[in-house]
Amino acid sequence: MPTNEKIWITGASSGIGRELAERLAEQGNQVFATARNHVVLESMAAQYPGITPIPGDLTDPDCSRSLNEQLKQHVTYLDRIILNAGTCEYLEVSNPDWKMMERVMEVNFFGAIRSLEAALPLLQANERGARHIVAVGSQASRVTFPKAEAYGASKAALTYFMETLAVDLADQKIQVSVVQPGFVETPLTANNDFPMPFLMTVDKAADHILKRIMKKPAFIRFPSSLSSVLAVGSSLPWFWRNWVAPKLTR
Ligand SMILES: NC(=O)c1ccc[n+]([C@@H]2O[C@H](COP(=O)([O-])OP(=O)(O)OC[C@H]3O[C@@H](n4cnc5c(N)ncnc54)[C@H](OP(=O)(O)O)[C@@H]3O)[C@@H](O)[C@H]2O)c1
Repeated sequence: MPTNEKIWITGASSGIGRELAERLAEQGNQVFATARNHVVLESMAAQYPGITPIPGDLTDPDCSRSLNEQLKQHVTYLDRIILNAGTCEYLEVSNPDWKMMERVMEVNFFGAIRSLEAALPLLQANERGARHIVAVGSQASRVTFPKAEAYGASKAALTYFMETLAVDLADQKIQVSVVQPGFVETPLTANNDFPMPFLMTVDKAADHILKRIMKKPAFIRFPSSLSSVLAVGSSLPWFWRNWVAPKLTR
């Protein structure tokens, strides 16, 4: 687990991001925590002196500048950024809310890009540290799931972007990892009204991420049980789409 690092985490007010922020602060890291809910961020900072709130709405087209300015009030460089903020909505094709596609992409894809714009200069200003970009995608983008048009597409776009960014930043020695969790018990999944195989606690999800983050792998996928099923599914797309996905209809 990282120690003595300067780490920026988005989506830090709840779920996986909050768990990571608090654990990393406990380990002596200086953690900059971003989300819209500044009240929660302030209460986290009151409990964990290593946490500094950097409130912001990642759907605001201007947020990169304000987040960069807020970060620069506290640091001249960052070691690691964890682009974790996300949202999930499902498409009902019988009564589609097409604007929902934009809402989900705005947070999950463009929100991550705006965060990167805010923080990349601070990673580049770091001459000796970890220089690590961690983006939280999802196992959902590996195969098709019913009603997941928006969520799956946003995470597929994020994953492609990050894998390509890894190639383009390699000569700057900035590494990129994509985290692909399975189902985790958080407010994001609380309203899911369908079975969530291999559902895990947020504590366990943070264990998986923190155990592997120092090695900066291309992917951090968990749980391995779900990951193995989806590896088979993604290598047999015709079979998955025609025989498995229809049975998952929600
Ligand atoms: N839970 C799962 O099963 C699961 C599985 C795979 C991947 N993931 C991914 O893991 C990440 C964390 O999800 P979670 O399950 O921990 O969800 P969560 O508990 O709902 O947390 C989402 C976080 O994102 C922040 N956020 C949402 N919209 C934002 C915006 N416009 N601007 C700034 N921050 C925003 C929220 O803070 P505010 O509301 O305060 O802004 C919150 O801190 C997401 O990227 C999600 O897609 C989750």
